[in-house]
Amino acid sequence: MLEVSARVDPVEPEVLQPLLQDMWDTMAAAKGAGIAAPQIGVLQRVVIFGYDHNPRYPDAPPVPRTVLVNPEITPLDDTREDGWEGCLSVPGMRGIVPRFRHIRYAGYDQHGNRIEREASGFHARVVQHECDHLDGILYPFRIEDMRSFGYIDTLTESGLLARQPCDDDP
Ligand code: NI
Repeated sequence: MLEVSARVDPVEPEVLQPLLQDMWDTMAAAKGAGIAAPQIGVLQRVVIFGYDHNPRYPDAPPVPRTVLVNPEITPLDDTREDGWEGCLSVPGMRGIVPRFRHIRYAGYDQHGNRIEREASGFHARVVQHECDHLDGILYPFRIEDMRSFGYIDTLTESGLLARQPCDDDP
C-alpha cells in the first residue's frame, strides 16, 4: 500500500469496470468521500471520489462523483489551508493536513474520456488525499503539527475535533 502504483495503459473501460465497482462498494460501505485502488490491494493509478451529501461534512458542498484514472494535479497557486482528514487505511484517527487550496486536475474517466477540472476547498482536498495514495503517501506523512494527530475519541474528548459519525476517507 505504500508503494508507487502503476499507470493504467491502455485505459480499457471493460477491464476497469469490476475494479471500479469494488471501489464504489467499499467507499459506500465506509461512507467515505473517496478511495484509491491501492487501498483495496490494486496497485494501479485509479481513484474515485464524490458524493451528494456526506454526513461527516454536512456543510461541505457536494463533490461530483468522479472516476479518475492516471490523475495529474497542478496547484494553481501557492495557497494552502489546513483541514481535518481521516483515512480508511489509518482507522480510528484524524489529523490536520495542509493542502493546496486551488488545483487543476486531469485524467480519464470510466469511459476513457479525458477529464480536466479546477477545484478548490474540500473538493481539492479530497483529490489530493486520494492521489497521494497512488504514490504510497498517507495523510499522516503530511501533518506538520503532530499535536493535531490522534485517535478520534481522544481528539473529540479534548475538544479539538467535532463529533463525527463514521470513519472514512479523507
Ligand atoms: Ni485515504
